[in-house]
Amino acid sequence: MTEVVHTPRVFSGIQPSGGLTLGNYLGAMKRFVELQDAGEMPTIFCMVDLHAITVWQDPVRLRHATRELCAGFIAAGIDPEKSILFNQSQVPEHAQLAWIFNCVARMGWMGRMTQWKDKAGKNSENASLGLFAYPALMAADIMIYHATHVPVGEDQKQHLELTRDIAIKFNNDYDVNFFPVVEPVIEGAATRVMSLRDGSKKMSKSDPSDMSRINLTDDADTIARKIRKAKTDPAPLPDNVEGLADRPEARNLVNIYAALADTTPEAVIADHAGQQFGTFKPSLADLAVAKLAPISEEMDRLMQDVDQIDRILGRGAERAREIAAPILERTYDIVGMVRAQGA
Ligand code: TYM
Repeated sequence: MTEVVHTPRVFSGIQPSGGLTLGNYLGAMKRFVELQDAGEMPTIFCMVDLHAITVWQDPVRLRHATRELCAGFIAAGIDPEKSILFNQSQVPEHAQLAWIFNCVARMGWMGRMTQWKDKAGKNSENASLGLFAYPALMAADIMIYHATHVPVGEDQKQHLELTRDIAIKFNNDYDVNFFPVVEPVIEGAATRVMSLRDGSKKMSKSDPSDMSRINLTDDADTIARKIRKAKTDPAPLPDNVEGLADRPEARNLVNIYAALADTTPEAVIADHAGQQFGTFKPSLADLAVAKLAPISEEMDRLMQDVDQIDRILGRGAERAREIAAPILERTYDIVGMVRAQGA
């Protein structure tokens, strides 16, 4: 065994495959900003456009969604000077390492991924090869920076376990200690924000019903209307969190409140015990509008100048490549690829 003690480094990504939802914001982006601002580890954030095309994307919409996502990152508090912020396709090392990981990962591992099963459904013969290989690209996204900490929502946990398996198998296959074993950072009150229409389903940009989610681009009236119409049960809020155990819709609204207010579900219950939803929902709507409206206004402002966004992404990609290129070179060397001197 040769090589390295891995210095802590944060990496995460979001797909530009539609608008940002409250789930993306509370489960991921808000945590990214906290990690950036804590200043304990370098932070790298990526718009994963190569992942997005594992299902067909309209090119005009993909380009728009990538820039809008960049605006979302910045509006939420990511500072492109403090963090590295870029889109995946501008750093070819992601796809290059992904090929090597395609040769390390096993078909059986991929076939067990619940997101593959959900997305490909019964029609897997017709799904793209890219959709099947998706988690190997995700592992490459992380490993091309030797990232050690990956903040994500609960739904990405299985993919991170696979990332660990790929890193361990690579290290064993080549008898090195080259790739780090990542730590998932799945923390906070809102690691799994649920649909506003069905407390058993994740809030998702691909849900056909727009009423099921809050988009970061929704205006104040729309946010308030969606919360007012959110599915709930007829009982008042309980006086302890255990009382939410069999009430998924109520629990979801309490968790959303807690995450938006930077507090815990216990504290929210302590403040609102016994309230009917007719009282709790307007408080939640006010809070959501107060927290989200400034973000959506800032996104609008940033989208007025797409050249500036493209410059930020280009500069981020240059900085990302400075880290990624030597790690790819070393990987090629370990695997046994001949490299021209000085290349
Ligand atoms: P994506 O684009 O589906 O979602 C981006 C992030 O948002 C989180 N998230 C949620 N969190 C809580 N509740 C929800 N309802 C909710 N919906 C989404 C996701 O968990 C994620 O953290 N495969 C990834 C993107 C990716 C990636 C990576 C992430 C590609 N490479 C490397 C980390 C590291 C995805 O599709 O996320």
